[in-house]
Amino acid sequence: MKVLLTGGCGYIGSHVAVVLMSAGHEVVIVDDLSNSHRDVVGRIADIAGQLPVFYQGDVGDVALVRDVIRRHQIDSVIHLAGFKSVGESVQLPLKYYQNNVCGTLGLLQAMEAESVPRLVFSSSATIYGDPQYLPVDEAHPQRVINAYGRSKLHIEGMLQDISASRPSLGVVCLRYFNPVGAHGSGLIGEYPRGTPNNLMPYVVQVASGEREVLNVFGGDYPTPDGTGVRDYIHVMDLAEGHLAALNFLSSNSGWHAFNLGTGRGFSVLEMIRAFEKESGHTVPYRITARREGDVACSYADVQAAARGLNWKATRALEDMCSSAWRFQSRLSTGGRSPAD
Ligand code: UFG
Repeated sequence: MKVLLTGGCGYIGSHVAVVLMSAGHEVVIVDDLSNSHRDVVGRIADIAGQLPVFYQGDVGDVALVRDVIRRHQIDSVIHLAGFKSVGESVQLPLKYYQNNVCGTLGLLQAMEAESVPRLVFSSSATIYGDPQYLPVDEAHPQRVINAYGRSKLHIEGMLQDISASRPSLGVVCLRYFNPVGAHGSGLIGEYPRGTPNNLMPYVVQVASGEREVLNVFGGDYPTPDGTGVRDYIHVMDLAEGHLAALNFLSSNSGWHAFNLGTGRGFSVLEMIRAFEKESGHTVPYRITARREGDVACSYADVQAAARGLNWKATRALEDMCSSAWRFQSRLSTGGRSPAD
């Protein structure tokens, strides 16, 4: 297929690009580089053996996207471009609605004008809010508690409406749990700008000596060791989930949503121990107050994706930790940072 991949230079997008190109698909990236770097295009090529086509631009720019779709005869879109900091979204909700919701609106207008029949959208398990039961399945009530989550929910709603009005359109919303790890080459991975918000990049930076100590947010949750439990999924498994969604859309239309997770939860302390073992470095930590908005425990019901997409996460926690460490080690030993 000829795939327009928005946000293809980002953490998840770069891994999706590699997986799609390795499976023989043509990939055209549109990315505004607001939270990523152009270097990543070359790194994708180093792994996949060919350069993806790259445009620096805004997915909400209807004229640009229509031009890209026509020029490359795009038949499928994988839409990952968007802001993703939960904390920032609480401070600056309009920034999130403008970029995530309005950007998607422009993309959808361009797709409709050019009659593109397939879309895979990067959604998030955050739309479920505090789990009412576990594992969390796709029918779980949706109770967002921040603007980031609401932007994802608005977009899912828009996609449902559009799909109802255009029955030939196929849409898959992929609800990610907690993506971690990196491609086995260590060439692409997660490189957050500034202080990391998420656990794994913070752990990696503490292990490498860039930061002194990890704050573990809460040691009194009703979980086996008192720390928060999440469903961490290897980013390569997640990327393969997008390939499975694309295959699914080659023979299905309508609107669909699938969780992408492993179905298994690990606590913060379990993550620290696993990372220490794989990296050979200690990760000093201290238990601090809970972080506002955090839930105790969340992990996915993965049956729908197994049945519908014929996809399952296969990579173990050890691989998530060792690949994240390999990426960090390449950065520290002279590989230029994608955020330079
Ligand atoms: N944590 C710490 N210290 C840190 C960072 C995180 O103890 O420095 C803990 C959190 O309290 C939580 C766990 O590590 O228990 C995971 O936290 P992350 O910030 O890595 O991930 P979240 O589950 O909070 O959120 C992530 C993404 C969201 C997405 C959500 C989906 O950041 O965008 O998963 O479940 F919506």
